[in-house]
Amino acid sequence: MAAGDFMPIEGWDHLELYVGNAKQAAYFYEHAFGFQLTAYAGPETGVRDRASYVIEQGDIRLVLTSALRGDHEIARHVLTHGDGVRDIALTVPDATQAYREAVQRGARGVSEPHVVEDELGRVELAAIATYGDTVHTFVNRADYGGTYLPGYVAQVGNGALGVGLKVIDHCVGNVELGRMDHWVEFYERAFGMTNILHFGDEQIHTEYSALMSKVMSDGSGKIKFPINEPAEGKRKSQIEEYLDYFAGPGVQHIALASDDIVGTIHAMRERGVAFLGTPEAYYEDAFDRVGEIEQSWEDLRRLRILVDRDEDGYLLQIFTKTAQDRPTLFFEVIERHGARGFGEGNFKALFESIEREQALRGNL
Ligand SMILES: [Fe+2]
Repeated sequence: MAAGDFMPIEGWDHLELYVGNAKQAAYFYEHAFGFQLTAYAGPETGVRDRASYVIEQGDIRLVLTSALRGDHEIARHVLTHGDGVRDIALTVPDATQAYREAVQRGARGVSEPHVVEDELGRVELAAIATYGDTVHTFVNRADYGGTYLPGYVAQVGNGALGVGLKVIDHCVGNVELGRMDHWVEFYERAFGMTNILHFGDEQIHTEYSALMSKVMSDGSGKIKFPINEPAEGKRKSQIEEYLDYFAGPGVQHIALASDDIVGTIHAMRERGVAFLGTPEAYYEDAFDRVGEIEQSWEDLRRLRILVDRDEDGYLLQIFTKTAQDRPTLFFEVIERHGARGFGEGNFKALFESIEREQALRGNL
């Protein structure tokens, strides 16, 4: 941690999704994405208003939560936004300090610092608001020996192997036209993050759709938050479509890293995960663009995995179709070989694929 770093972040703690039916969502992420159920809270464990399923794979932890009654903040969130990310929670050494530093620098407090405990120890929590109805919970779990949080009961997983997903690589937010710089400045000011990359609409546009993106990163480079806003195109930007259906800003995609993307995508396809298609023509000039790589081009072409190179190395990536009926949240699987970018060279190929889906929905 750099001297003077007022917001040291140890890592991603978890992402909590508010969903309409957490029981079924958990089944989907367990069976299709290879997660294991590790903890649960709900009526059976003394929680009266909600059910939460904690699922894990590698160092990735997702929490799926549903309200049990209609007149509830979680139910209202789902009514407005559909299934989606509510909380991008970060592990910090001192949640009270993190909260105070952020609030002092203009962040809006959502949950004052407090401690929850059980016989396995104590966890310190606090939360602040970010774009839309999304929040960041600061979690200090240094003094906790349980599976997740006090109030949750550990679950014995089904013993099945995962698909090789290891860690969260980045988590992308979509914000309204003209608001990207506001949120870039927010992460600079409240988190001490720096803007490591910027894509203008000259890099990221197709005939119809355009967006602009800036990537914020903490000092360690572990936490990366790209922020997108729509840009003018001939037709409706995919970011605008998201904002319409999510009813405001929110998390667009969660990128999960694998160190064997070929094996991971093979397994996810077998389990029924649907990925965006890539035109055959993409593979005709991909080798010229990217050059020599470790993986077999035949595997990449067969599985429709995308490849990109920057000055530091190359990366492999692929995007799922949206994970719910609203065209909002989707997932990315990424394998980095030195490259620190986000697949800029693939944006055009990718967006053409996304727009084919958008056209099918009658929104282009
Ligand atoms: Fe991404």
